[in-house]
Amino acid sequence: MNASNVGNMTHGGMGLPSQMEGFSPSYFQGAIALVMPQGLLSVPYHISPETLASALSLERTWVKTFSTIHPRGKRVINLRSDTCSLQPEGMKQAMYNANVGDAEYFEDSDTIRLENMVAQITGKEAALLFSSGVQANQVATIVHTGQFNSALLSKSTHIHTTEVGGLASFLGVKFLPVETSGESLSATDIENEYRTPTLYNRPINLVILEQPLMNGRIVPLNDLEAAYKMAKSLGQKVHIDAARLFNATAALDVDVKEITQYADSLMFCLSKGLGAPIGSMLCGSKELIDKARQIRKLLGGGMRQTGYLAACGIWTLENMVDQIAVDNINAKYLGQSLDYVLQPHIEIDLSHVETNMVFFKITKQNFNHDCFIEYLRSTHIIISPRNIDTGFYRLVTHHGVTRYDVDMVGRWRVMSSGIALFVGINDYLQLHLCILKT
Ligand SMILES: Cc1ncc(COP(=O)(O)O)c(C=O)c1O
Repeated sequence: MNASNVGNMTHGGMGLPSQMEGFSPSYFQGAIALVMPQGLLSVPYHISPETLASALSLERTWVKTFSTIHPRGKRVINLRSDTCSLQPEGMKQAMYNANVGDAEYFEDSDTIRLENMVAQITGKEAALLFSSGVQANQVATIVHTGQFNSALLSKSTHIHTTEVGGLASFLGVKFLPVETSGESLSATDIENEYRTPTLYNRPINLVILEQPLMNGRIVPLNDLEAAYKMAKSLGQKVHIDAARLFNATAALDVDVKEITQYADSLMFCLSKGLGAPIGSMLCGSKELIDKARQIRKLLGGGMRQTGYLAACGIWTLENMVDQIAVDNINAKYLGQSLDYVLQPHIEIDLSHVETNMVFFKITKQNFNHDCFIEYLRSTHIIISPRNIDTGFYRLVTHHGVTRYDVDMVGRWRVMSSGIALFVGINDYLQLHLCILKT
């Protein structure tokens, strides 16, 4: 037997000792690798090495726990979000060498440098550093709408689903969430939702769009243009939540300005794929940014020696933008790997993997999702629980997830020792783990 036919083995192949039957899959203690004198054994469930050894009348030494043979050692593959990306050495060095002062007095040179740099990259007059994307979105919205007016947005946007209703609670902005016909808020949606202000309808003076969408999908540029033009023709401003702006520019293979031209204001995050520890940028006209600075203060978002953060931003914009394209490619590859090894147990639409997010649903009956996540954690693969409403898992790539890591999640590996093993999701889903000893 060689490594190439290991993948075809089912646990019917070599057969399982009858003692194995009746083990509950919910009894779970991490993956077990069995190195048998005869070569290969499929282990149907993840059970403790001791129990397995005793059930098979084996010496305990024949049963090896996964972690002792794991080629990654304790290296963690964190697919929960690109917000989990850690800071590269160069970024830490840049932080150490930052030129700082009190940013509230405009004395923090690296913050000023970052804001000018972002204004230039986005083709806007000015930019402002925020502690988070949520805060930048909130401030942009209130600057555009004014208190007690309305903003139109898709029901599925991050601002509507995940930003805790702050704008309505603190700033009196009313959201008009739209059930869109397509993936994003279109020109037709904007036109259909238009209401002449009356005693009962607050004026809509802002349309909020996303690029990429919260689910990682891309809005075609002509759709973005049409939405922008429709909003303008109705006298509304446009804010784009582009938290993952560079994932979008990489996917579309366009310059940043191809997107920012369709926004009166745009927010993007430094703290996602770009790998900064903290920071989001808002860009727009000088007038908008001046007002935004004041409202940021009102919300307690004014900061002092922000140069330490700005230095990370400058470093990442100079060094990490190309990596984002790699993250997008790795996500596609991850999706393809999952599709290849996990069918027919999953639902996945590869055409939806346009940036760095992969969504899939496990369709296997009676599948224990909690055990699945725990199992992955035991092999140092971190993922978020599935979405309760849709049942989909989301995996997100970033610079901390290499091509090799993706292989580890979704492929057979043949290691130099001659051992072929499958690690990751497949072995639990198919409830077996195969080890071939040459
Ligand atoms: C599309 C989108 N917008 C805004 C945000 C908010 O960013 P932050 O977490 O920095 O507040 C996120 C965060 O994940 C996001 O995905």
